[in-house]
Amino acid sequence: MNQIEWKEEYSVGHNVIDAQHKRIIRMINELIANQEVSIHSEFISDLLNDIVKYGMEHFMVEEMLMKEYEYPFLDEHHKEHLQFKLNGAVMCKKVFDNNETVPRELLEYLKKWWLDHILKEDLKLKYLFEKK
Ligand SMILES: [Fe+2]
Repeated sequence: MNQIEWKEEYSVGHNVIDAQHKRIIRMINELIANQEVSIHSEFISDLLNDIVKYGMEHFMVEEMLMKEYEYPFLDEHHKEHLQFKLNGAVMCKKVFDNNETVPRELLEYLKKWWLDHILKEDLKLKYLFEKK
């Protein structure tokens, strides 16, 4: 499976958010690169925990900024974040029970969810950051 390559068109025009997105992508790439490593190893379980924990922190920062900039579609965006919390985070935790290595479905889900979210939702914030 190919790793995610950061492209300039992913930039939402806010340094903190871009840096956080890059860090999340780096973590997903690390998971892809180590998909053969035992899921019960400290390395993989820490990485999965970090993806979930850091993702939640990132959502908080993004939602704080949306409030600060009075983004009119905060509710819709919040629902998208909630969907990841419910599906993605649960998936990350569940994999330990039924798998020896990181399942492809999880990697595909993480890759697709984050790229779609950045491109379809987060990029809608760009105009706010450009105004200031
Ligand atoms: Fe977002």
